[in-house]
Amino acid sequence: MRTPVIAANWKLQKTVKETEDFLDALIPEVKDAADVEIVVAPVFTVLMSAGRKMEGTNVELCAQDVYFEESGAFTGEVAPSMLIDVGCKRVIVGHSERRQYFNEDDETLNRKAAASLKAGLRVIFCCGESLGQREAGKTNEHLSGQLTRGLKGLDMDRVDVAYEPIWAIGTGKTATPGMAQETHAFIRSHLKSMFGGKADAIRILYGGSVKPDNVKGLMECADIDGALVGGASLKPDSFAKLVNFRSQ
Ligand code: PGA
Repeated sequence: MRTPVIAANWKLQKTVKETEDFLDALIPEVKDAADVEIVVAPVFTVLMSAGRKMEGTNVELCAQDVYFEESGAFTGEVAPSMLIDVGCKRVIVGHSERRQYFNEDDETLNRKAAASLKAGLRVIFCCGESLGQREAGKTNEHLSGQLTRGLKGLDMDRVDVAYEPIWAIGTGKTATPGMAQETHAFIRSHLKSMFGGKADAIRILYGGSVKPDNVKGLMECADIDGALVGGASLKPDSFAKLVNFRSQ
């Protein structure tokens, strides 16, 4: 009932040329992939050319961030409708790197998500605990706070949640499928408390050192509905393997 989503988060990587080469290699590899949504999130400067390459394909363009105002005196920012203008269908909101290095708080992220939905984008809303929070037994408390504040009032028909434990991002330390499933189940129960029966339809993606050799075990878990992938999404063959996770 929940179509899986495999999303590449390239962070601060890849030029226009590198992206075009990547897409030239990826698109034929994944063109027959069934029952999976394929998403690639390059940097802002690459969006327009990447969007052109993706036209008419089953790969969807996603931005890594957005601002919540539509126009005005906000130097350096990009509006949701401007992302749509260059072909974006989705946007990532609240990645832990945005929270950590750019001081984005849940209220700001809620505004970003609401403005994106209003403009017609789908949102991948990220949450996740630090190692200290996990070790202190505060994971669930932390995640409920992030979700309660961050998703407040949103139309969840167009929001996917991504659970990314900070200690697993870029570290090679993946949560085991069991650990990830336990937290995903908690997240779904929290979503139920916020949105009722609708929570059963919300995709919850896992992120944090997902690779071709661990994707299948994660995707087999009942409440894991996709993956948000950094490092292993940078090479077309590796990302194609993730998209084709069922045959790994
Ligand atoms: P990683 O990054 O796959 O390199 O751990 C995941 C993410 O930050 O979205």
